[in-house]
Amino acid sequence: MPLFKKKRGTDDTIENGAKLITLAKPKSPVAEQFRTVRTNINFMAVDHPIKSLAFTSANISEGKSTIAANVAVTYAQAGRKVLLIDADLRRPTVHATFNLSNHVGLSTVISSTAKEVDLDSVVQESGVDNLYVLTAGPMPPNPAELIGSRRMRDFVKMTEEHYDLVILDLAPILEVSDTQELSSHLDGVVLVVSQGKTPKLAIKRAVEMLKFAKVRILGYVMNDVSSENSGYGYGYGYGYGYGYGDEDTKKKGLFSKFRK
Ligand SMILES: Nc1ncnc2c1ncn2[C@@H]1O[C@H](COP(=O)(O)OP(=O)(O)OP(=O)(O)O)[C@@H](O)[C@H]1O
Ligand SMILES: [Mg+2]
Repeated sequence: MPLFKKKRGTDDTIENGAKLITLAKPKSPVAEQFRTVRTNINFMAVDHPIKSLAFTSANISEGKSTIAANVAVTYAQAGRKVLLIDADLRRPTVHATFNLSNHVGLSTVISSTAKEVDLDSVVQESGVDNLYVLTAGPMPPNPAELIGSRRMRDFVKMTEEHYDLVILDLAPILEVSDTQELSSHLDGVVLVVSQGKTPKLAIKRAVEMLKFAKVRILGYVMNDVSSENSGYGYGYGYGYGYGYGDEDTKKKGLFSKFRK
């Protein structure tokens, strides 16, 4: 029996960043799907305003970073002042996506003992109007401790005062404990489900964990990573619905899907 499992997933976005189709092809149906995700999140904000929200998934490589970055762009395009935080300290992507330095970032802020954080010294302009980013920073030896810390929660609260919306790209909930911990202190979480790839049991377990921690689940994004005829970067498909299971979302009429 092997001691270590072969590494799953792909490191493509870690090396090259996520594809920003909302910028490259803003008029494409896929970009429109991202705007639908934004609209549906806004629906959820009617009675409970959403200032901080995170994207997570059950396992690695299900499309969290791609979706978080594109949704952040659509909010910025709609005129909201957005901060995208790379809170996946183990598999960071945001610096590569926006071609930025990662010398300082979230890990620097959270591990520092300074009483006050000077946002201007750590937050970077993304190159997209209204969109600011906080990269992950150097990889720390104790990511769970940092993300699950009180300082992290206070920091997110503080950023909410400076931006209209704070979006966090989180590590997968079944892989690490800190995601569950931090999520319960945010205004909501969107679960990314890789269509045809995420096992049903994993989705169920992820939802249970979020509910157990009293996390407000804003919905989920069905990400069609595994489209049979999709080469790399081909066959994007995004849907958005509430609850989980296709039938459920179809019934509620919120599920939409596009395949190039
Ligand atoms: N809808 C899609 N169609 C095709 N490829 C996709 C789609 N969504 C994501 N990908 C690809 O899947 C891989 C994983 O995506 P991404 O890095 O966004 O996922 P992740 O959940 O953030 O992964 P990690 O667990 O490493 O943080 C990347 O190569 C990305 O380009
Ligand atoms: Mg990621």
